[in-house]
Amino acid sequence: MQETIEKTQEMIDHENAIKQILANNNNDPSRLIPILQQIQEMDKYLSKEAIEQVAVELDVPVSHIYGVATFYAHFSLNPKGKHIIRLCDGTACHVKKSHGILNKLYSKLGLSDENRTTKDLLFTIEIVSCLGACGLAPVMVLDEHVHGQCTPEKAEALIDEIIANEKAAN
Ligand code: FES
Repeated sequence: MQETIEKTQEMIDHENAIKQILANNNNDPSRLIPILQQIQEMDKYLSKEAIEQVAVELDVPVSHIYGVATFYAHFSLNPKGKHIIRLCDGTACHVKKSHGILNKLYSKLGLSDENRTTKDLLFTIEIVSCLGACGLAPVMVLDEHVHGQCTPEKAEALIDEIIANEKAAN
């Protein structure tokens, strides 16, 4: 029962937060992209509920919002992990064996090309084409921290550190 009440309050708070984002953008449908960006910044993805609320409040078809959200690779319709691992597979990083790091991360986290977010929503792996730091190849960015000349072992140690910190915090 307690959980239901908390959940409902959580949903109301979330709806209000979206209303605030819409108000900050003057409830203007022409500002749909920045609105979706701000919602994604808050939630880390665009949920079905958020998309439906935006459609109602801006009086635009849900299909239009899905069209925009799926057109831009930047938007995600699936939940992302708390920690985002961005692994570069641009030419310089690829030549320096970035795939070895990716394979290590996949096996460590039980992920694959088809599923890049862990079930506990702790990690998401994103593969990017160039992070603009080719001199440091291969490059991995973990929660906005750049790790140059990365190796599978270094990547694993970083993940272990996060897992240990998360356990200690719980
Ligand atoms: S190719 Fe990886 S940083 Fe440029």
